[in-house]
Amino acid sequence: MKWSKLALAALITSGAVATAQADTVKMECGSGATVRSFCDYVKARFEAETPHKLEFIDMPASSDEKLSMLQQIFATRASNVIDVFAMDVIWPGVIDRHLLDLTDSVKDLEPAFFPSAWQNNVVNGRIKGVPSFIDAGLMFYRSDLLAKYDEKPPETWAELARMAERIQNAEREAGHRTLHGLVFHGKAYEGLTCVALELIASHGGGKFVDADGTITVNNPRAAEALDAAASWIEKIAPRGVLGYQEEEARAVFQNGDSVFMRNWPYAYLLSQDDKSPVKGKVGIMPVPRGGEAGQHAATLGGWQWAVNVNTKVPEASIELVRILAEPETQKRNFMLMGVPPARTDVYQDPEVQAKGPYLNDLKVVFDAAVPRPSTPTRSQYPRVSNAIWNATHDVLSGRSDGARAVAELDTRLARIKGKDWR
Ligand code: GLC
Repeated sequence: MKWSKLALAALITSGAVATAQADTVKMECGSGATVRSFCDYVKARFEAETPHKLEFIDMPASSDEKLSMLQQIFATRASNVIDVFAMDVIWPGVIDRHLLDLTDSVKDLEPAFFPSAWQNNVVNGRIKGVPSFIDAGLMFYRSDLLAKYDEKPPETWAELARMAERIQNAEREAGHRTLHGLVFHGKAYEGLTCVALELIASHGGGKFVDADGTITVNNPRAAEALDAAASWIEKIAPRGVLGYQEEEARAVFQNGDSVFMRNWPYAYLLSQDDKSPVKGKVGIMPVPRGGEAGQHAATLGGWQWAVNVNTKVPEASIELVRILAEPETQKRNFMLMGVPPARTDVYQDPEVQAKGPYLNDLKVVFDAAVPRPSTPTRSQYPRVSNAIWNATHDVLSGRSDGARAVAELDTRLARIKGKDWR
């Protein structure tokens, strides 16, 4: 969805006036039946357990478009557009000063959460968000097709490419003309930065910028990783992936039209829906290693509940955040949308275990997940990521090659950094 200035102005002026006793809190909720039923559950609880009302606001689906939208809202200092929203794992250092300090109202909740997820929202010792769910990149594969061709889940990207090509070509010859070897989200947006990090880090090419802020991307392994990915386009991956976000990749895979897919854990539960053509035919594995010497590198993702510092209804917003942090709420979020809870206790819930036995294996993936360089690059991360996804997109679409792209990216990142990250 594109947000015009007009739409933003309309939102700002239509804001309800809050009263002291019964406030109206505006919370972000996406579109689509499953997310709506999650939001309806939250609304029913909030309105039953507090005197307040809850209203929903639609936000753009992609992380970077949503961040731009929020930054426009923050710039107007509007207090009546949105109170509570989901914040990407990479944002706390970027929008810190627009976030309500939740320290005194939520610090008692800390022991219930995965420590790394909790710590990610602590900026200069102040708690600025409460984790909703954790994400890490995964490779999905068609277990039925791998078995049919007597193949095991691949360890390296090269094995994956070989297998994907073999199965794709044989199946196409047998009549499945629309089958692809691999799909992923390759549009020029935040999701591609996640893919690029996995590719490069799994080849031993680093994380673009290391923990002390040094730019590391200009190295042969990073170039090699991007070149390898470019060679997949039109061979095992359709050119269309250059315009895909997560949901487009999932649509192709879930329709039975790809052997492999890079995506986030949510895609698994949806692929096992009764109406899914690939129900019972999907396996998950770590994102492959770059080569025998490479390592598994899953990009760390995830979302947190945060409160707009300009809110006129801070107490009610905090009450809402506390409901969003409850085990039952996080359980619903998993049962409906397949997102892995950020609370550790939810994993022991019998219904959660029955529906997501694979969740236990994911804990290992989360522990080893690689963060994007949002902490060292501070408020400049959005520009850094923009440069990364554009450089990657240029290589994938054949406008550049790995060596040139990493050299140019190095120059661009140095220009953004200036004397130091700030
Ligand atoms: C997922 C991740 C988030 C990431 C986004 C990119 O939602 O949880 O961290 O930024 O994908 O598309």
